[in-house]
Amino acid sequence: MGRDDQSSVPETVETALADRPVEGRVCLEAGAGVGNATAGLLAAGAERVYAVTDDPEHAASVRERCRDHADRLVVIEGDLRRTPLPDGSVDLVTAHGLCNVLDPPALEGVAADLTRVAAPDCHLVVDDYAPLPEDAAVADLFAVENAATELATGRPMLTFYPASLLRYLFDGLGWTFDRERTLLDPVPWTASHLSAHAAVTVDAADHLPVALGDALVERAERLVESIGEEFTGRMYSLAMRLPEQ
Ligand SMILES: C[S@@+](CC[C@H](N)C(=O)[O-])C[C@H]1O[C@@H](n2cnc3c(N)ncnc32)[C@H](O)[C@@H]1O
Repeated sequence: MGRDDQSSVPETVETALADRPVEGRVCLEAGAGVGNATAGLLAAGAERVYAVTDDPEHAASVRERCRDHADRLVVIEGDLRRTPLPDGSVDLVTAHGLCNVLDPPALEGVAADLTRVAAPDCHLVVDDYAPLPEDAAVADLFAVENAATELATGRPMLTFYPASLLRYLFDGLGWTFDRERTLLDPVPWTASHLSAHAAVTVDAADHLPVALGDALVERAERLVESIGEEFTGRMYSLAMRLPEQ
């Protein structure tokens, strides 16, 4: 592992994994995204990382980002509600920033399948964003994004779950709560984050009547401009584990 690999792991991921047994473990990174947690697991000495995403562009960028560790990485394009891994085959599961892009039915299906592939004594790390404070300006931008995606696809793009709710969900599936820690407080919503969220509205607008789509895009773009950046909300890390038997 070179210094560059280590430095490319965000502090949030390092903090979330710092007290978890990663070295020598078979890991599943659920929702590979841009590869932050995958890079963290590899840097922390995972024996093997299965990085699963349903987005082919994300899969390609994670393969490229982590190409120096190709011997320990398997990037899988698939649906986490039907993860193509055997029952009881994973020692540590991470879901770093995944749950906020799952609506409640998808969350339920993903949580059940993550539990299926987990081995006895498996560890689980769920990192996500708490619901935003009522006065958060970015909440308006996310509401426009959700309106556009609900109208275009029938489901919202973003749902911010309280840590306690995810804890109860996994508890009901047999996981035991281990600890909760704060990763970011406040969360820095930068100009580039906000533009990326506005871009989701632009994509959704392509599937809507022109006048409606244009109005939503205009509203999103005005919000990006007026907000600029905002520091609000909290990102948390939950750790749980399965019984040994
Ligand atoms: C916000 S990103 C997560 C960031 C990532 N964990 C990291 O550390 O960089 C969410 C990821 O979950 C994937 N995803 C969402 N729903 C999924 C599902 N049902 N099955 C597989 N991947 C899914 C998205 O395609 C995306 O790659």
